[in-house]
Amino acid sequence: MLIKNANAYINGKFRIRDILINGEQIVKIAYCINAKNEEIIDANGLIALPGLIEIHAHLREPGQEQKEDFLSGSRAALAGGYCLVYDMPNNMPKPTITKEALEKKKMLAKNALCEIRFHFGATKNNFVEVRNAKPESMKIYLGKTTGNLVIKSNVALKHMKNFPKGKQIIVHAQDGETVEDAQTGVQTAIKLAKKATRKIHITHTSTAKEIELAKKWKLATVDTAPHYLFLNKEEAIKMKPKEKMFVNPPLRNKKEVACMWKELEKIDAIGTDHAPHLLNDKIKGAHGFPGLETALALFLDAHSKKKISLDWIATRFSENPAKIMKLNKYGKIANGYFANITLVDLRKVWIVKGKNLYSKAKWTPFEGRVLKGKVVKTIYKGKVVFTESV
Ligand code: NCD
Ligand code: ZN
Repeated sequence: MLIKNANAYINGKFRIRDILINGEQIVKIAYCINAKNEEIIDANGLIALPGLIEIHAHLREPGQEQKEDFLSGSRAALAGGYCLVYDMPNNMPKPTITKEALEKKKMLAKNALCEIRFHFGATKNNFVEVRNAKPESMKIYLGKTTGNLVIKSNVALKHMKNFPKGKQIIVHAQDGETVEDAQTGVQTAIKLAKKATRKIHITHTSTAKEIELAKKWKLATVDTAPHYLFLNKEEAIKMKPKEKMFVNPPLRNKKEVACMWKELEKIDAIGTDHAPHLLNDKIKGAHGFPGLETALALFLDAHSKKKISLDWIATRFSENPAKIMKLNKYGKIANGYFANITLVDLRKVWIVKGKNLYSKAKWTPFEGRVLKGKVVKTIYKGKVVFTESV
């Protein structure tokens, strides 16, 4: 396959290049490559981002396939520009906390349309399971949320000490509703990581102070979710039904959101926290938003309003997630890397509508937003797996 004339993020800069793909890999990047028998993709006028990497999603299979499954979730991912998705362990009724559960998930995810990897849940007594299952990464819940995986800090410390230092631990640090609660949670997580002298990744920070606190530990990285930058409490309260606005951690007020925007440079990654629930479940109090199909576009739109650079987007959606998860051959458009490429049209204006989502949630907290910028093609390991239909 040959991608012609893409404005591609290569080596820290956008440049117009041709990209030659052989099998699953990028084999040549040059100003002009001549095609012989290649399938040609004309990317003239399009931006090429390294295929997006989602480090925080809930794909719900097995157990709650009515909300999402690997097929629908991966379709949503590709439509949002993602080639690789990390799935969270808080499945109900059976969380991913045993070797058996992890292997079952790996099997089930074989029908996914993009790559799926798995965070393994830490519990108060699954130390042997962790050793046997040899997961790529771990998720620690210090705060209450969907599922039942909260552990005490002394147990979390033991996991942090036991889990291989080279592997990543994602921490849900925030417990409770207030900003102070969230900040205390982050402080605790950092204290534990320091004691264990290990790297951790604090997910869904929603206040500037949490980021500041996390950054006091040199081996800590942070992400935030799009809703902590593009929604605020004052506006969300008007949602109908009002229960739609429930999410963990909760949405913050306008002032906090403005402070988050000032910390953009310190945010290492965007994790959507794609947490699909059917509207019926939302009305009964389920917390969480679908996010895979709107995340990138919200930031592209912010770029069109000159609030954010394309370099920032490329690093936070692809390059840094690859670093955080210590992935080889992912997160860059470069020779020898996997041919995961997201083609974006910055001119395309569209309206977000829940009913058009591939996610089974079929609603979105961003309903009705007019966004400028959209994924038009997603290339996963050398194959076009998503093409925009309108
Ligand atoms: C998530 C879910 O529904 O699984 N919900 C949420 O509000 N974010 C769980 C989580 O990530 O905390
Ligand atoms: Zn989550």
